[in-house]
Amino acid sequence: MRKYVAEPYKIKVVEPIAITTREQRQEAIERAGYNTFLLNSDDIYIDLLTDSGTSAMSDAQWAGLMIGDEAYAGSRNFYRLQDAVRDVYGFKYVVPTHQGRGAENILSQILIKPGHYIPGNMYFTTTRTHQELNGGTFVDVIIDEAHDSQNDHPFKGNVDLDKFQALIDKVGADNIPYICVAVTVNLAGGQPVSMENLKAVKELASKHGIKVFFDATRCVENAYFIKEREPGYSDKSIAAILKEMMSYADGCTMSGKKDCLVNIGGFLAMNDPDIYQRATQLVVVYEGMPSYGGMAGRDMEAMARGIYEAVDYDYIHHRISQVRYLGEKLADAGVPIVKPIGGHAVFVDAKKFFPQIPQDQFPAQMLAAQIYLQAGVRTMERGIVSAGRDPKGNHYYPKLELVRLTIPRRVYTYAHMDVVADAIIDLYQEKDKFKGLEMVYEPPVLRFFTARFRPL
Ligand code: F0G
Repeated sequence: MRKYVAEPYKIKVVEPIAITTREQRQEAIERAGYNTFLLNSDDIYIDLLTDSGTSAMSDAQWAGLMIGDEAYAGSRNFYRLQDAVRDVYGFKYVVPTHQGRGAENILSQILIKPGHYIPGNMYFTTTRTHQELNGGTFVDVIIDEAHDSQNDHPFKGNVDLDKFQALIDKVGADNIPYICVAVTVNLAGGQPVSMENLKAVKELASKHGIKVFFDATRCVENAYFIKEREPGYSDKSIAAILKEMMSYADGCTMSGKKDCLVNIGGFLAMNDPDIYQRATQLVVVYEGMPSYGGMAGRDMEAMARGIYEAVDYDYIHHRISQVRYLGEKLADAGVPIVKPIGGHAVFVDAKKFFPQIPQDQFPAQMLAAQIYLQAGVRTMERGIVSAGRDPKGNHYYPKLELVRLTIPRRVYTYAHMDVVADAIIDLYQEKDKFKGLEMVYEPPVLRFFTARFRPL
């Protein structure tokens, strides 16, 4: 049997989950239009749709809820959150938001003017949508290796400095308000960015007066990979590495639903007092008072506590090891997955799994539906459906056509990982018999959430 890093916690509360028959799942997936986003949670055994807002909070976080100060302004829990962000991330100002995209909305409105270009290390769905809604154009400047699912570069999320420089030369630094660097890169497979690269990006950007904002959503996972892989960091604490990472940014957007270990919440943080002041003007329109944004006092308390728990080495070591256990089990059985195995998820390469299905017949969407049918395991398409359409109305054809098995933090056991692996390995044995899907309903933006499909 494969060796594993056992849990650094014990279980105090349990939540029963549904065990269903294949007939029940067939009915459920048809009702959901072959879109796993449209399944009811009650019909799911193991939910690997996302690691977002699905974490189990600790007893200390639950206890923190009881000291929520629900004042409309100046809640004490806001100050606790602000202190935690200053202490752990190192930014001076923080504006709480209801979740990550609330912070992306405010940042995009402040910094982007029509005609601007925003370079980034691969797009993320909500981030790019906010950039485009403000008249900006996203430009991918990630290294080429990131688009190759089999390349095992240790820092596959790195920014390609030549691509960044070429964009500056082409459109002019005046038309680039900031570069958005995601640590880690979700759609590349949860791949990290090296400290060396973060430093170099900051240097190049500063030389041209371009700001650097991190999408810090999974920054603790990024810090773990730096400790594991980058020379000079093995003896440093996760907290020290995280703080150094953040020193190469002017600010960040954060989805607290991931690496702050809470079910809801996020923030925008920065050092520039002018940007902060403009953020406080916008947050009252879209979220709430600057001292609560979109959050209840109790939720700010839970997030403040989660920020500290997340940088504990035993926590993050177990988390990354559990994801790796699932990935290695699949890879050992020959299932094509993205390598190296990332921080928050294992990504199955659907183009290689179902080579007979053309990309515009949605192989990853079909694979996600089949994994559900096989064992009640919910996963997510991250391919052509998620990529959406370009401004001319044509599909974007991303090189990566993936199904994401996203592991919630502190929620499932290794036995659950075995169930997931066995289901996918069994499906892989009969992969040749499957055909693709056609889309029968398509919403105008972020179509993957609500699109509906039918088998061909
Ligand atoms: N940035 C990244 C890299 C994300 O993965 C997400 C959310 C966001 C920003 C937006 O944050 O959901 O709090 O508004 N990712 C979730 C996922 C939805 O399943 O990958 P949010």
